[in-house]
Formats: sequence, C-alpha cells, structure tokens
Amino acid sequence: MKGLLLVVAGLTAAFLSSASAADKLDPSCGSCHALVKPTDTSLDRLMNLKGPDLWYAGSKFNKDWLVSWLQDPKPIRPAGFPYFKHIKKGAKHDEVDQSTIPAHPKLKKADAEAAAAALMALKAPADLVPAGAFKGDMKGARMGSLAFVKFRGCVACHQGDKGEGGLSGPRLTDAGARLQPDFIAAYTANPQRFEPHIWMPTSNLKDLDIQRLTAFLVQLGQGGK
Ligand code: HEC
Ligand code: HEC
Repeated sequence: MKGLLLVVAGLTAAFLSSASAADKLDPSCGSCHALVKPTDTSLDRLMNLKGPDLWYAGSKFNKDWLVSWLQDPKPIRPAGFPYFKHIKKGAKHDEVDQSTIPAHPKLKKADAEAAAAALMALKAPADLVPAGAFKGDMKGARMGSLAFVKFRGCVACHQGDKGEGGLSGPRLTDAGARLQPDFIAAYTANPQRFEPHIWMPTSNLKDLDIQRLTAFLVQLGQGGK
C-alpha cells in the first residue's frame, strides 16, 4: 500500500512538473504544439495539427540547437507540416506550395533561452526514449548510410547527408546537431509509439540496423565528423 502511494505521488509529481514546465512557455506555443501528452489519439488530431508535438521535447532535442533555432527558425520539414496541406498540382507532378507555409515565430535571445529550458524539462517517459537506446558505436555509420539510402528506403521521405530525399518527413541533414541519439534510435525503432497514426512505417528493423542508422544520423550536422 505504502509502495503504491509512493508510485501515485511520484506520478503526480511527474505530471505537475511537466505541466508547470509547459506553463513557463509563452501560451502562443501551446496553440500550435501539444505540450502535454494528448489524450486524443485519433487520426483526426494528427490531420489537424498546426505544429509537431513537443510534449517529449526534452528527450528529443539538443538544447543548444533549440536556443539557436528558436532565434532563427529555418524550415525543418521541406513541405511544411503536415506536408499534405502544402501540396499543389504541378505541370508534371505534385509540387510544394511554399506560399502556404507560414514563417515560424522568431524569439529574442533571452526568450529563446527561457523557452529552450522549459522545453528541455518536458521529458518523455523512460520507456518511450530509454537511456542507452543508442549504444554509442559510431563504426556502423557507413553501413547506416547505405541502409538509409538503399536498403531501408528512409531517403524516400527524408533528406539525408546529400540534402536529397523525400519531402514528407523532417529533414535529417543536421540530425546529429538537432536530435539526441537515444531519441533517434527509439523513434526509428517504432514511430507509432510516439504518434499512433504517423505515416513513417515501423519496419521491424533488427537492433543492429537501428544502431547503424542512428550512428549515421548522429554524425550528420556535427562538423563533418
Ligand atoms: C502558428 C503555429 C505555431 C506557433 C504559434 C509556434 N509554432 Fe513551433 N512550429 C510550428 C510548425 C508548423 C513547426 C514545424 C516547422 C518545420 O518543420 O519547418 C514548428 C516547429 C517547432 C519546433 C521544432 C519541432 C520539431 O519537431 O522539429 C520547436 C522546438 C518549436 N516549434 C517551438 C515553438 C515555441 C517554443 C513556440 C512559442 C514561442 C512555438 N513553437 C510557436 C508551428 C508553431
Ligand atoms: C513514408 C515516409 C517515411 C519513411 C520511409 C521513413 N520516415 Fe522517418 N519520419 C517520417 C515522418 C512523417 C516523421 C515525423 C513527422 C514529423 O514530425 O513531422 C519521421 C520522423 C523520423 C525521425 C524523427 C525526426 C524528427 O525530427 O522528428 C527519425 C529519426 C526518422 N524519421 C528516421 C527514419 C529512418 C532511419 C528511416 C528508415 C529506416 C525512416 N525514418 C523512414 C516519415 C518517414
């Protein structure tokens, strides 16, 4: 009984701490981004999102990247978010209608630092982004690059190191600067655990594949390492 009470108290504390971290952000951020885990898991929610979920931001982003991106937000998703709202018919094939993609709000340095600190406090549950999901072996990066472009078809939706690739997923050209390695591994293993209807497939990759793909992505955007 005592154990149960402690668990309940712990969960409440975890909930309160993420709720208060979200409160530290400008309320406008919450009008486009989910800052707490949504209870609505319908396809409708995903279809009508105005911005990517940030409720696990503290387990996803590198803080330095957040601070600089929030001051100078360059597009991450080449066709906007969600991409299917920004596609128009072209002469030969569908094209991105850039005019429908709004610019992201730009923050001053102090506000960007405060927002980044608040976002870093929004941690994912430990079983969603397990510490050590990426085991840290960078030797697999070359095989990971081949998997990304050829064997696993990631490039159909993502731009990788050459800046070439599909438009329906976030650009991964600077993944290592932007994203935490454990997040990359956990998301690659099973995107639907983050968002049940997301259109990235779960490919039942072996852990070796996941480690190699993560090693490849981790070195992107890290000064040519
Ligand atoms: C009008 C809607 C809107 C508002 C308001 C807004 N955002 Fe965003 N945000 C977006 C969209 C759309 C993207 C995706 C941009 C892209 O991929 O190029 C985004 C991306 C982001 C990202 C990167 C997320 C990722 O998964 O790549 C962060 C971090 C972020 N916003 C933080 C904030 C913060 C902090 C605020 C409040 C100061 C804020 N946003 C206000 C719509 C919004
Ligand atoms: C059918 C398209 C598709 C394919 C194929 C695909 N992805 Fe994705 N991927 C997505 C979408 C869509 C998202 C997340 C949507 C969002 O936040 O805008 C995503 C997100 C990610 C993320 C998180 C990045 C972020 O900024 O949120 C990583 C890492 C990733 N994918 C890696 C991979 C790898 C590795 C492969 C190949 C094994 C792959 N993806 C194949 C569509 C795809």
